[in-house]
Amino acid sequence: MPLPAGWLLRHSVVTCLLLHSLVLMTFCFHHAATSCSKSCYCSEGEGGGKTVRCSNLQLTEIPKDLPNDTRRLYLDFNLFTSAPANAFAGLPHLLTLDLSHNELSLLEPGAFRGLGSSLQFLDLSSNKLVSFNPDAFEGLRARANLTNNPWHCDCNLQMALPCVDLEPASLTGIVCQTSNPADIGVIGLAFLLAPDIDLCVVTKKTTDVAMLVTMFGWFSMVISYLVYYVRANQEDARRHLEYLKSLPSRQGKSEESSTISTVV
Ligand SMILES: *[C@@H]1O[C@H](CO)[C@@H](O)[C@H](O)[C@H]1NC(C)=O
Ligand SMILES: *[C@@H]1O[C@H](CO)[C@@H](O)[C@H](O)[C@H]1NC(C)=O
Repeated sequence: MPLPAGWLLRHSVVTCLLLHSLVLMTFCFHHAATSCSKSCYCSEGEGGGKTVRCSNLQLTEIPKDLPNDTRRLYLDFNLFTSAPANAFAGLPHLLTLDLSHNELSLLEPGAFRGLGSSLQFLDLSSNKLVSFNPDAFEGLRARANLTNNPWHCDCNLQMALPCVDLEPASLTGIVCQTSNPADIGVIGLAFLLAPDIDLCVVTKKTTDVAMLVTMFGWFSMVISYLVYYVRANQEDARRHLEYLKSLPSRQGKSEESSTISTVV
């Protein structure tokens, strides 16, 4: 009787190990089935749709193999420098897009195309955005975080802001780091919260002044040339006139003398 008991024990240990590895394997397969993008970590969100995390992976390009039922996408702390057109066009159910803490300096026109009706929050904070391109945000009504970017505030920016449909409070994140003109006093301010500053009027004024100065320069050149021309010609004319005046009298004298000599 002691032999079968030992055998049974050993047998059960083997069965247990087998079972254990089977469980592990199914877990792994299950995991493979839901790890949708090859470099990202995916999980099923409550209320359907996936949450995809690709944070801090040294990615330089936005992954193209993201599942089309992604609701939340975290791409923060990577090395993206630009967002190409239609980068997220295959994600019609996206609610949250986190692109913060990257090197983004260029958002191509249509970068967020296809997200207009779904996206609620777009995080672009802590990037390298300098100029605001309204064509990149076409149709987007989301709340956006635009803080911590080296925004350059100029007339172009001022003209671009009314063209976007983003939630208006988002635009208060545009804090000017440089400006044109440089001494307008908008640096360090949220551009939208400085309503007295009109960068377009100022640049228009400076171009007007430049135009005036150039025109005045040309005008004074033309006038001084005219004055010089008239003076030079006046002198010429006077000399000519004097010469002409001197001619008939000399001629008259010589004629007189010749007649006198013939008479004599
Ligand atoms: C996602 O793509 C699959 C095919 O890959 C398609 O059958 C499904 O309808 C798509 N789902 C959505 C929400 O677009
Ligand atoms: C925007 O991003 C910054 C830095 O990434 C963060 O500190 C801030 O809380 C964010 N603001 C909002 C409204 O989410």
